[in-house]
Amino acid sequence: MSAKIVARSAEKRFQTRQGWMTALHGFDLEVAEGEFLCLVGPSGCGKSTFLRILAGLDHATDGEVRITPGPDPRQPLANVVFQEYAVFPWKTVLHNVAFGLEMRGVRRAEREAAARRWIDKVALTRFADYYPAQLSGGMKQRVSIARALANDPQVLLMDEPLGALDAQTRAVLQEELLQLWEEARKTVLYVTHSIDEAVFLGDRVVVMTAHPGTLKTVIDVDLPRPRDLGVMATPAFAALTGAVWEALRDEVHRAMAEQA
Ligand SMILES: Nc1ncnc2c1ncn2[C@@H]1O[C@H](COP(=O)(O)OP(=O)(O)O)[C@@H](O)[C@H]1O
Ligand SMILES: [Mg+2]
Repeated sequence: MSAKIVARSAEKRFQTRQGWMTALHGFDLEVAEGEFLCLVGPSGCGKSTFLRILAGLDHATDGEVRITPGPDPRQPLANVVFQEYAVFPWKTVLHNVAFGLEMRGVRRAEREAAARRWIDKVALTRFADYYPAQLSGGMKQRVSIARALANDPQVLLMDEPLGALDAQTRAVLQEELLQLWEEARKTVLYVTHSIDEAVFLGDRVVVMTAHPGTLKTVIDVDLPRPRDLGVMATPAFAALTGAVWEALRDEVHRAMAEQA
């Protein structure tokens, strides 16, 4: 079976005032259908760049980056959830969540029913007619997640989606996200700078090197599912986060030395 997400010798160069700079170099990755894959790496190593290429918002300079299309050509390939609450301030929660379906020409009654189902799932039932400005950061991020999932993409791309939230809200949303994923088992590529989050959520954690980004190592997360936050207190969890940090430490030092 071919992988759902494939990167082969992916290369991304940007032209800057100082000349060309290489953001991604010889990056190889395969994500299986239905896998939850977490991507960690020091700041500036090209995580967002890779995700943007996958989302079709940018393209690789060389090599191959693709999502293998599924059998239904009407099903969108990918939706992205960003760290900044990328919701439309002038639309209600309901209309934000229905947005992707509206763009695809789904009839009003049908798209609003689908949107309401997702709003229920992310525990915002009472807030369907609220505007984003009336919501907390965690609630806005629930809207983003619901909007992405309501569109039923083949792949969900998430770029530090919980990075701006306080620790408690973040923990709650991590658990909620895992519950949603358990039901749908969509292919997820999840970028995070939190090692704990990567190990808690992922089937595998891919560690990238400092700039230019390339694959450093892959760590299999063999923690049983379904998982809840209690798993974070187990020795197996500590061993896994230790292994990720072991792989990441030198890269973070390299990145910091370069930025100093
Ligand atoms: N549009 C762009 N033009 C020039 N350089 C860019 C552009 N986008 C990203 N970069 C550079 O590419 C590198 C990788 O960036 P990014 O993918 O945002 O890293 P990460 O998400 O891992 O922190 C960084 O050095 C960044 O400055
Ligand atoms: Mg980034």
